[in-house]
Amino acid sequence: MNDKSLTLQQAVEQIKEEFTVTSEKLSQLTNHFTELMSIGLSKDPSENTKGLPMIPTYVTKIPTGSEYGVYLAADLGGTNFRVCSVRLNGDSTFKLDQTKSRIPEDLLEAGTSEELFGYLAKKIDTFVKNGNHHADQIDEDKSHKLKMGFTFSYPVSQTALGAGTLLRWTKGFKIADTVGKDVVQLLQEQLDKIQSPVHVVALANDTVGTLLSHAYSTGATPNGKQGDAVIGAIFGTGTNGCYLEPIENITKLGQEYIQQLKSKGVTHMVINTEWGSFDNELKYLPTTEYDVNIDKASTNPGYHMFEKRVSGLFLGEILRQILVKLNAQGVLFPQWRSFDRLPEKLRTPFNLDSEVLSHIEIDDSSNLRETELTFNQKLRLPTTEEERLAIQQIVRAISRRSAYLAAVPLAAILMRTKALEGYHKEVEIGVDGSVVEYYPGFRSMIRHALALTPLGPDGERKIHVLIAKDGSGVGAALCASTVV
Ligand code: BGC
Repeated sequence: MNDKSLTLQQAVEQIKEEFTVTSEKLSQLTNHFTELMSIGLSKDPSENTKGLPMIPTYVTKIPTGSEYGVYLAADLGGTNFRVCSVRLNGDSTFKLDQTKSRIPEDLLEAGTSEELFGYLAKKIDTFVKNGNHHADQIDEDKSHKLKMGFTFSYPVSQTALGAGTLLRWTKGFKIADTVGKDVVQLLQEQLDKIQSPVHVVALANDTVGTLLSHAYSTGATPNGKQGDAVIGAIFGTGTNGCYLEPIENITKLGQEYIQQLKSKGVTHMVINTEWGSFDNELKYLPTTEYDVNIDKASTNPGYHMFEKRVSGLFLGEILRQILVKLNAQGVLFPQWRSFDRLPEKLRTPFNLDSEVLSHIEIDDSSNLRETELTFNQKLRLPTTEEERLAIQQIVRAISRRSAYLAAVPLAAILMRTKALEGYHKEVEIGVDGSVVEYYPGFRSMIRHALALTPLGPDGERKIHVLIAKDGSGVGAALCASTVV
């Protein structure tokens, strides 16, 4: 629509309104999340395809900080692949050596799983053999395999600690032939093919790694008491969280298995919620035309609808879509009269990343000079001061909606687990990911929103949202350490 009667500021006010998440909305979403958690715990992914996956991870113990030993860890979570050697010192500290490589673009959409997992296996093997890592362990006994934990940060339906089939790809990967296959097996096959001395013994989601490494780093006390970490969460390229659920509530595990675990003294299991898929049916999530466009253009339309409103991969694209729309309305960049004439960089989907937004968010230079520079450099786009002021308001509306929505699963899990009940009870949430770590004010916006959820300001005061570094590496090593 080319609405010439609209001024830029009026258009911005409309957008701000669309992106506002009220306290009523937060309560509604929190209650809905709670309902979907119960359904997810009782139904298998095959009967709950659009629901909240609530995946049992087979991790039944939280580290105390006294875990000890040297383990390998591999981490595939986004555009990078890391291989790490982790030395757990048994006193909450660790030493980590790693190599990092960027996944070649063509492998994101590789024709076969073999190409991707073959690439990963070679990287692991090179690290082990060339980096002098674990050389002593290999040389001592040629048949001895090194235990490795594999952090694989995509929705996987786990069937054991060391096995799980991919439900679907997220975050830009698109290799159809991997869906439905066991990713541990795929990696092990490629490692065996090149006779690598590595045995993949544990599979972990990055949120599980974050929870475990946070507990390891903060939990050790002289008597080995457990820390107070109750949720592990990621707000980065993607978003997700995990927490501990009493075993008897995970009814989809089947009564027989639950009794078996209980007889071994198991009381809880970590659940990977895959909250990126919260409200895929869009019953209550706020939805703008930009969200609709992004979903249509995504690799997984109809899924991960929450993630598409919250995580770093999408924030820049939401802004780009809005700028294009304002141009079409004739209120922004009027020197370009049609979409085809806009600078190519602004026409290209996913060309703006959340880092750009983070600069604009806190730009307090006079006349928003920093924003002017950012637009010149990243998009070759000259801007007027009025335009920059408008863009900053839009950026703040997008990030606030993201952070407010981010509070929903946190509040719902704390309510379900009654984690805040008890005299002077305080809890820790271990978080990792580029958005929560580097986006200015993101954590304090989450806190504002937590106070507006049913937890209220009293609940919010008892919550500590703490950055947990290196969860994917240390967490995978901790998982591997539990396998004897
Ligand atoms: C994946 C999760 C992962 C999250 C954060 C999401 O896209 O589905 O498994 O934990 O990103 O990396």
